[in-house]
Amino acid sequence: MKNGDNFIGFPHCTNTYSHKTGNTRTLNRNISATEFLAEKKCRETALEAGQGHVFRWWNEITHGEKQHLLDQIASIDFPLIKKIFTDTRIKPVQSIRNNFSPPRIIPIPTSIDEQENALKAKHVGESSLKRGEMSVLTVAGGQGTRLGSNGPKGTLSIGPISGKSIFQLHAEKIQALQKRYRTIIPWYIMTSESNDAITRDFFHTHRFFGFEPRDVCFFTQRMLPVVDLQGNLLMDSKWNVVTSPNGHGGAIIALKEKEVFHDMKRRGIKHIFYHQVDNVLIKIADPVFIGYHLMDNAEFSSKIVKKRHPEEKVGIIVQMDGRMHLIEYSELSREDMYAKDENGALKHNAGNIAVHMISIDFLEKVYKEEDALPYHAAIKKVPYLDKKGDMVNPEKNNAIKFESFIFDVLKYVRKGVIMEALREDEFSPIKNMDGENSPATAKQDLVNLFGRWLRNSGISIPMDNHGNVIGLIEINPCFALDEEELRSKIDRNLKFNGHLSL
Ligand code: UTP
Repeated sequence: MKNGDNFIGFPHCTNTYSHKTGNTRTLNRNISATEFLAEKKCRETALEAGQGHVFRWWNEITHGEKQHLLDQIASIDFPLIKKIFTDTRIKPVQSIRNNFSPPRIIPIPTSIDEQENALKAKHVGESSLKRGEMSVLTVAGGQGTRLGSNGPKGTLSIGPISGKSIFQLHAEKIQALQKRYRTIIPWYIMTSESNDAITRDFFHTHRFFGFEPRDVCFFTQRMLPVVDLQGNLLMDSKWNVVTSPNGHGGAIIALKEKEVFHDMKRRGIKHIFYHQVDNVLIKIADPVFIGYHLMDNAEFSSKIVKKRHPEEKVGIIVQMDGRMHLIEYSELSREDMYAKDENGALKHNAGNIAVHMISIDFLEKVYKEEDALPYHAAIKKVPYLDKKGDMVNPEKNNAIKFESFIFDVLKYVRKGVIMEALREDEFSPIKNMDGENSPATAKQDLVNLFGRWLRNSGISIPMDNHGNVIGLIEINPCFALDEEELRSKIDRNLKFNGHLSL
């Protein structure tokens, strides 16, 4: 008999403790026949799936809590959970070998030809922006567990001087583009149940950072239950199954099931610029990238940066069986990790930074596929309630979260462009509270970027031995979105005194 099997029966609720749902005590409440049948069905489904333990504390919880638990159970696709647990857990990670080679990459332009191509692409991208075909999709549904902060990542203060949030920084970039190209760029933000309300509140409190509210659209991704290493659902209270968002790949399905896709088509949107909320250097809707994507009639395009070193924990994009493919760090053999090309440079060097162009027509194609994106298992430390009902904060990894990844759509891509970007100009994600990829490194990277723009505009900016600007600089995207714009506006006689806000 599984845990919880012995709790079947007509429930009487007599509990006396407070709980998150805010329900007041409900004592000996009789339930209706409909409620009884709903409960019976949920119990049977959970039992059949070997998950009867979720009812372990049934007799101790209130009516509202019972309803919450039943709603959760009713929403779980148990056969799917079983399948992805088996598929992801049983298969060990294996090195991918043979048959892959570096993809064709549009390089950072150095030669005259490359510069001319980039300029041509820019004009094509700009025309598309002016025609109002472009939208921005920011994925912001993650739980930011490594960061460990309370609120959504987008609400983190990041302005080196202003202290503005990441969301505000993104908002200002989109507004600067709208102004420059006299266009509307609808902004779609994917959240999840764990941060949707707080994200929306943040935008309301800040009056949508000057956006027309109708041009900012929030939608949530699906949640999936979190299981222990044996596949049992974890609970973090006597009435709540632990769930987590279904990965950034969840955006693909959510666009369809939340009718965002429909909204995009209604507005005449043809392409999506996709990025992750935590990259503070993101060049949103870069016209050069858009242009290359359009000139190649591409379906799904990616920006990459060169890996810092062979063992950097970043996925790489390769060419395999005539298609693009992402190989995760853990799937790369040591031999391939250190392989050199004919010039002595790292051979497999196209580090994925999750910046993509996605064509709407391509999404239509993906939607025709059953189970378009596979799930992956992320093994994490997740607090849970033990059999005695005590909360446990595990010291070792104890749980599996199931996530789909956006780059798994690569297998459907027939035409895609890969363009190199300079890491110091375009990629600085926030993953941890301290050390590498933290708010401190992100702020410094912003200051260094602005410092380079100013130096290239003829202003003297002091640097330390690590190549960091000495002092603080912040340039509002609405003043200058890029170096070119700054050069056209800056006073050449400006003297930097260690603190500059433009
Ligand atoms: P990460 O994989 O870095 O996840 O997501 P995270 O939630 O930010 O941080 P950890 O791993 O829990 O520490 C990269 C981007 O994908 C989004 C995140 O919000 C971030 O912008 N994401 C991730 C989603 O939108 N949904 C998800 O289910 C997972």
